[in-house]
Amino acid sequence: MNRPLAHGPAIDAPATVRHRKLVEWVAEMAALTEARDVHWCDGSDAEYDRLCAQLVTAGTLLKLNPELRPHSFLARSSASDVARVEDRTYICSERKEDAGPTNNWMAPAAMRALLQTGQADGTPPLFRGAMRGRTMYVVPFSMGPLGSGISHIGVELTDSAYVAVSMKVMTRMGSKVLDLLGSDGHFVPCMHSVGAPLAPGEKDVSWPCNATKYIVHYPETQEIWSYGSGYGGNALLGKKCFALRIASVMGRAAADKAAGNPGWLAEHMLILGVTSPEGKKHHVAAAFPSACGKTNFAMLIPPPALGHWTVTTIGDDIAWIKPGPDGRLYAINPEAGYFGVAPGTNEKTNPNCMASLKRDAIFTNVALTDDGDVWWEGMTATPPAHLIDWQGQDWTPQIARDSGAKAAHPNARFTVAATNNPALDEAWDSPAGVPIDAFIFGGRRSTTVPLVTEARDWTEGVYMAATMGSETTAAATGAQGVVRRDPFAMLPFMGYNMSEYFQHWLDLGATLAARGAPLPKIFCVNWFRKGADGKFVWPGYGENMRVLEWIVHRVEGSAGGELNAFGTTPRYEDIDWSGLAFDSARFDLVTDLDAASWAGELESHDALFKQLAHRLPGELPQVRERIAARLAT
Ligand code: GTP
Ligand code: SPV
Ligand code: MN
Repeated sequence: MNRPLAHGPAIDAPATVRHRKLVEWVAEMAALTEARDVHWCDGSDAEYDRLCAQLVTAGTLLKLNPELRPHSFLARSSASDVARVEDRTYICSERKEDAGPTNNWMAPAAMRALLQTGQADGTPPLFRGAMRGRTMYVVPFSMGPLGSGISHIGVELTDSAYVAVSMKVMTRMGSKVLDLLGSDGHFVPCMHSVGAPLAPGEKDVSWPCNATKYIVHYPETQEIWSYGSGYGGNALLGKKCFALRIASVMGRAAADKAAGNPGWLAEHMLILGVTSPEGKKHHVAAAFPSACGKTNFAMLIPPPALGHWTVTTIGDDIAWIKPGPDGRLYAINPEAGYFGVAPGTNEKTNPNCMASLKRDAIFTNVALTDDGDVWWEGMTATPPAHLIDWQGQDWTPQIARDSGAKAAHPNARFTVAATNNPALDEAWDSPAGVPIDAFIFGGRRSTTVPLVTEARDWTEGVYMAATMGSETTAAATGAQGVVRRDPFAMLPFMGYNMSEYFQHWLDLGATLAARGAPLPKIFCVNWFRKGADGKFVWPGYGENMRVLEWIVHRVEGSAGGELNAFGTTPRYEDIDWSGLAFDSARFDLVTDLDAASWAGELESHDALFKQLAHRLPGELPQVRERIAARLAT
């Protein structure tokens, strides 16, 4: 199959590749982008090491001191390419209303003209010649265990070797996936270019990217096109683009009411196993917005004073959830690695994470120590006396005091395989997934929202999730610390109309309830209430086990609580305080319901429902009325 194309390079497909459509697509894309050559990734360790070595030569990666951080690298991105770009992210459905009011939209034909085919006025498409002077990597990957009935396959074409090695860590990637695809298996095409073609002889920069960025999804044809960024969720297309935006569309399309098939869910959720001192195991899936605590919660180490609880990680960012034959909901983690927030991570807050990062990690935008290791804000109480910051500049504590310069970017991240995690659950790779007993939704709210509330029922739980608010973080470009509604922690990741997504959740609950299966209980949490001193009141991290314990006991029917307008909350005496000095006055600070704040909160629910009025399920405004009535009495 070594056929040179009329206008493109030889695409060098390995003899084992039997998928005609894949080969044709690769050839077509190589011709469009004028890639210099094509490399088919086999996903082997040797290939990973070869590409990393090549990235070191290119200056994209810096090899860390192998004695301190074996087999690990540091990447420093361009200062303009440090986070997801929500304002450049598009859902290109044929009809605008199918993308819904929360998504950027452009008609597919107009977007294709811009990216792929060229515009009427003769403006060439952005992808034409975009890979000139570069290698196009063919990256076949499976989201989910190979061959699982819940898994799906994608193929990413990218001109970034950093993306190729990251995909090896984050997904099941390589020849095994091509074998599984066979001659006509289905895959989601994921087209990616950093948008920085090289002229003959032109010297490359260490982090090529383009000021113009487009992160584009065609839900009807299930395609992804990403241009201009090499960073995380913009470029590792299996993650947010496929496993959330496209997969959410797939999960809803699979629903068939008449046939009693509720379809499935693609959620921005961690999945954990929690085993009680009595040896009883439950599974919990929790949705928190970006940089709001999923990785930390998934790796939590329970305080020993609570007895012998253990928490094990199935996933830290994304869950695909399907009804099983018994009518319960089963979740898999479609990913195989963690792309997690570095700042704030340390031996006290998240020892499992620190252990995961001891070797085999790629760090992006953290600081470099003088002995060739990494550092970030919050890693140690006292910063090193000298560092090279994430932009390659000298950094000292004094410089930080004078200028406020951070050593690591607030959205600095690590990329590491799940198998490095000492708390990895034995079923993390199970094709069947794990049965979910409870859903938790949580935002980052310095006021208003109490520590934990259990919803009265599925519908009120959907209301809670739908109206969730959270302060924006550095995970996306734009203003930070601003409260916005982030329904289900999915605002930036929904592939279709948000109101129809609410309906999908309601329908799924109704279908499963009709089958007589026990539905997971739904809870809302907030670790982030602040006191008058501006500091977090709740100790968080491992201490979140106290809330998780209450949740597990509620699932088992053994924990007490108090019913209020929103749901059931624990009284002080319903939480196990063994080993923690946290008096009831402080407990009040994280649990009290302030009437004025909640009046404002309900107004913002109304504003959300107004924005989402088209196709909004009637049950949700009805819950709103019930809450208002309860508050009034
Ligand atoms: P994404 O990968 O962006 O989806 O983020 P995430 O939801 O996995 O968040 P992560 O666990 O990485 O935490 C983000 C930031 O919040 C880090 O700086 C953590 O240290 C901090 N954090 C996590 N859990 C807690 C907590 O319980 N209390 C407090 N105060 N901070 C927390
Ligand atoms: C998030 O922003 O929620 C992330 C990081 O998990 S990214 O992969 O960039 O989306
Ligand atoms: Mn995330």
